[in-house]
Amino acid sequence: DFQTKSFTLRLSRQGQTLSVLAPAKLNLSLTVLGRRPDGYHNLETVMLSVRLYDSLQFSQAESNSIELDCRNRCRPRLPLANDERNLVIRAARLLQAETGCTRGVKISLTKRIPMEAGLGGGSSDAAATLVALNQFWELGLSQAQLHSLAAQLGSDVNFFLDSAPAAFCTGRGEAIEPVPVAQPLHFMIVKPPFGLSTGKVFQQWWIDRSTSRIEQQAALRALARGDVRRVGQAIINDLQRPAQSLNGQLDEVLNELAKADVPGYGMTGSGSACFALCRDARQAAVLAGRWRQRGLGQVFAVSSGV
Ligand code: C5P
Repeated sequence: DFQTKSFTLRLSRQGQTLSVLAPAKLNLSLTVLGRRPDGYHNLETVMLSVRLYDSLQFSQAESNSIELDCRNRCRPRLPLANDERNLVIRAARLLQAETGCTRGVKISLTKRIPMEAGLGGGSSDAAATLVALNQFWELGLSQAQLHSLAAQLGSDVNFFLDSAPAAFCTGRGEAIEPVPVAQPLHFMIVKPPFGLSTGKVFQQWWIDRSTSRIEQQAALRALARGDVRRVGQAIINDLQRPAQSLNGQLDEVLNELAKADVPGYGMTGSGSACFALCRDARQAAVLAGRWRQRGLGQVFAVSSGV
């Protein structure tokens, strides 16, 4: 097995193939501080990786081209872009531009992390691609160099490059400070049938503007102590109201979650996926079983960590 600082990856060399697992994330708290001159928004957010994975395989190409073959295991099974619209391709091209490398690669991507969900799937795939191709093409870039490329690809990519399962993220989300987590947390995630565009949700924030006063440090202390009840109380997301304005169907999911007897619930990132923080793995499994009957979307029971 290839050792990497990045927790996103489990790389195994089978002949000339590198296999990689790229996890999803949840935002336990997300405060929008305001808009920046570059059009992005400054944030404070606590992110946690969860055991729901896309998988990627990197193998030798016949030519020097970059080929991406996608399999979508999410519902609905829409075709995925295998060109520049896909962050995997953008990450590979950025590495080539940065290093002058002209080698090719065949990438096979299996998506299990729902898209337009706020679960960070595309960003995680991009981080996985940076680390894997750095190895596969023997580029020798340092972790710091990879972080600088990650920030060019998207605001969440740096989180996935880091080894810590949880981080306090600031700036537009790319400045990460790893934080300790005493024990794995257990979640039920529900991804409604519709997705939300991150850009549009941030635009809507400008209309439904709110900046929560919650002290994010409370969430961090509770995580470090393993105090699930307090972590639940600290769940907040300033993008939730704008997301609800953009798609009223989100109300139904959140209203149903409010009835669940769980330590906390909320929306992740810019949505549309929502989650319940559960007391333990058993509660997450039972809740997921019930929610699968409801037809409100795709349901997962997952724990945090890698
Ligand atoms: O950084 P990323 O490409 O993932 O962001 C997608 C879009 O979300 C950006 O183009 C921007 O409109 C918005 N965004 C923002 N502030 C952030 C992160 C994202 O306005 N901190």
